[in-house]
Amino acid sequence: MRLGSPFLVCVAAAMSSAFVISPPHMWSKLILTHHWPSTFCSMEHCHPNISYWTLHGLWPDKGIDCNSSWHFNSSQIEDLLPDMMKSWPDLLNPSSSGFWKYEWHKHGTCAAKAESLNSQHKYFSKALELYHKLDLNSILVKFEITPSEKYYTFSQIERVIESFYGVKPKIQCVHPSQNADVQILGQIEICFDPDFNLVDCEKQLTWVEFTKPGWDSPMGAGKPSGFSVCDHDTPVYYPPLS
Ligand SMILES: *[C@@H]1O[C@H](CO)[C@@H](O)[C@H](O)[C@H]1NC(C)=O
Ligand SMILES: *[C@@H]1O[C@H](CO)[C@@H](O)[C@H](O)[C@H]1NC(C)=O
Ligand SMILES: *[C@@H]1O[C@H](CO)[C@@H](O)[C@H](O)[C@H]1NC(C)=O
Repeated sequence: MRLGSPFLVCVAAAMSSAFVISPPHMWSKLILTHHWPSTFCSMEHCHPNISYWTLHGLWPDKGIDCNSSWHFNSSQIEDLLPDMMKSWPDLLNPSSSGFWKYEWHKHGTCAAKAESLNSQHKYFSKALELYHKLDLNSILVKFEITPSEKYYTFSQIERVIESFYGVKPKIQCVHPSQNADVQILGQIEICFDPDFNLVDCEKQLTWVEFTKPGWDSPMGAGKPSGFSVCDHDTPVYYPPLS
């Protein structure tokens, strides 16, 4: 059969339309991750001057570094920069765009497999939009979960988030040592489906976390003092700015 035969054209058309509807390796969930600057900086030895939850990233549940030739270019998100600096600051180096570049390469280029996120402007503006829509900072304050020298129980915090949003978050703590009698609140993840509806996050570690060195796990993979899912029975410290 020659390449131009009607049969082959037809199969190729069917295959390419199937590809458009359901691309292989497509992610099925987005994880919007917030981190608490005081906790992050206690691990990384930075000097936090921010006392609100900031964006860590918007991560698809599948894929990292999906397109290394798609370079971060901050002039494509120029209009977003004031909000980026406030809501998604690089806590290690506040005047740098290095964190955004890192997140774009690692996660944004994978998120971009969906048409709704297939540009840097779409990706970063959607992350900011979801962050503002959730408004986690106000919700925690409203339900009296505020930084404090007294400890919370884990279920106090979990209950507020779960009952307000109606989905299961994933809440991560720093465990200062194996048998510490306190854990430090560090990250709150809230998940979305590809249409940006809220969905439950997985309780177990996601594939993304197993494979992320550097920024996403500040102390390096496998070290006992990194972020991990909070224990149910250990008191939770939600540290104020020191
Ligand atoms: C925190 O410090 C950085 C760098 O010194 C500064 O650019 C930023 O505006 C400060 N943020 C707040 C909320 O004070
Ligand atoms: C990777 O990004 C480049 C630059 O934006 C683009 O031209 C190319 O089509 C992308 N490749 C894939 C596989 O998406
Ligand atoms: C970055 O984006 C701007 C605006 O779209 C464009 O003019 C410029 O050429 C891009 N820079 C690079 C290095 O691609």
